[in-house]
Amino acid sequence: MARKNASGFRDAQGDLRLENVTKSFAEFTAVDDLSLVVPRGSFFALLGPSGCGKTTTLRMVAGLEQPTSGRLLIGDTDLTGSRSYERPVNTVFQSYALFPHLTIRDNVAFGPKRRGQSDAAALADDALKLVQMDHLAGRKPAQLSGGQQQRVALARAIVNRPEVLLLDEPLGALDLKLRRQMQVELKRIQTEVGLTFIHVTHDQEEAMTMADTVAVMNHGKIEQMGPPAQMYDLPSTAFVANFVGQSNLGSGRVVDRDGSHLVAEIQGTKVKIPLERSAVADGDITFGVRPEKVRVMRRPSEGVGDDVKGTVLDVSFTGVATQYLVQLPSGTVWSCYEQNLDVEPIDLRPGDDVWLSWNPHHAFGVPVDEAEARAAAEAI
Ligand SMILES: Nc1ncnc2c1ncn2[C@@H]1O[C@H](COP(=O)(O)OP(=O)(O)OP(=O)(O)O)[C@@H](O)[C@H]1O
Ligand SMILES: [Mg+2]
Repeated sequence: MARKNASGFRDAQGDLRLENVTKSFAEFTAVDDLSLVVPRGSFFALLGPSGCGKTTTLRMVAGLEQPTSGRLLIGDTDLTGSRSYERPVNTVFQSYALFPHLTIRDNVAFGPKRRGQSDAAALADDALKLVQMDHLAGRKPAQLSGGQQQRVALARAIVNRPEVLLLDEPLGALDLKLRRQMQVELKRIQTEVGLTFIHVTHDQEEAMTMADTVAVMNHGKIEQMGPPAQMYDLPSTAFVANFVGQSNLGSGRVVDRDGSHLVAEIQGTKVKIPLERSAVADGDITFGVRPEKVRVMRRPSEGVGDDVKGTVLDVSFTGVATQYLVQLPSGTVWSCYEQNLDVEPIDLRPGDDVWLSWNPHHAFGVPVDEAEARAAAEAI
C-alpha cells in the first residue's frame, strides 16, 4: 500500500478502480454500487442520458464529492476521503473558468508555479504547443474563441501531468465542425502524453470514435461496458441497443432451439438468434437487429436469411444512404438503411409491400424492457 506523503497522494500511479461506489443525496441514489477498472493510459468514455450520474461519478474521482460508501483507488493507493488537491487528478469542465486577468501562458503556468516549479513558464509553453495554442500565449482569455479557450483549459490541466484527466462534456459548447476537430485533437494528445482520460458525454458518436472503452450508464449503474465496436455489435440490454446507435426491436418468446440458434416467435414471425448472441436462454425475449443489417426487397429472401413482410411508410434519401421506415403487420415500425450502391435503385414508395430480410448472424437477444421498446419505436 502506497503511503501518503507531504503532497498527499499525488504520486499515486496505476489503474483507476472504483469499488462498490455509491453516492446518495438524502433519499436519492445518484450512483448505485458502481464498480469499474479504468486501465492506466486508456481512454474511457462514460456515456448516458441526462441525470444518470456521470458528473457525480467524476466528482467523486476528483475528490469534489465523497462517496456515501465504497472505495476509490489509483493503483494500490486508496484515495477515498482525500481532498481534491491531494489527488493526481485534474478536471476540465464544460465551462472553462480561465482567469480573465492573466495571459494564456500565465493561466497555464498557474498550477506548476503554485507548486513552486521553477520551470513553470517552459512547462506552460510545452503544454500550449501540444494543444497548438503557443502562438497566442500572450493574449488574455477574452481575446480567444470558445474552441481556443477550450484548448487552453485542456493545456492547463495537462501541464500538471495528472495520472487521471477527467473531461466533463468539454466539447459541449462547440459547433459540430470544431467539435469533430477537437475530438481528433484530444485523442492525439491522449496518445501522445499517455494519461488516463475519462471523458463524459451524452454524444454516443463522440464516445465511440474516441474511446478504447465505453461504459453506458443508466440510473446510477453501468448497464454495459466494452470496446465501442463490441458494444455496438452486441448490446446486452434494450437500453444500450437504443442508446448506442439505433435498433429494430420486437418482443416475444423463445419457442425452440435449432442447432446453435434460439428460435423465437416475435409478434407472429419466427426468427433465429445465435445462442452466443442472446442474453436470454428461454422465456420472454426482445429480439433486435440494427437498421443497416436489414435489406429491403420486393420479394422474400428465399431462405437465405430471416425475413418479415411489411409496408413502406416513408423513404428518405440522405445522400450516402436511403432510410426506409417499414410498418410490420404487428404495427411495429422498423427502420433500415441501404447504401446507395445500385445503378438502378429499388425505387420504393410509401404504401408498397416489401420484405425485410437479414442474416440471423446479426440478430441479438436481450431481456424484455417494455419502456425501452416503446422508446425505440418513438425514436424511429
Ligand atoms: N448536490 C446534489 N444534491 C441532490 N441531488 C443531486 C446533487 N448532485 C446531483 N444530484 C442528482 O443526481 C443525479 C445525477 O446527477 P449528475 O449531475 O451526476 O447527472 P449527469 O449524468 O452528469 O447528467 P447531465 O448529462 O445532465 O450532466 C441527478 O438526478 C441530479 O439531480
Ligand atoms: Mg453532468
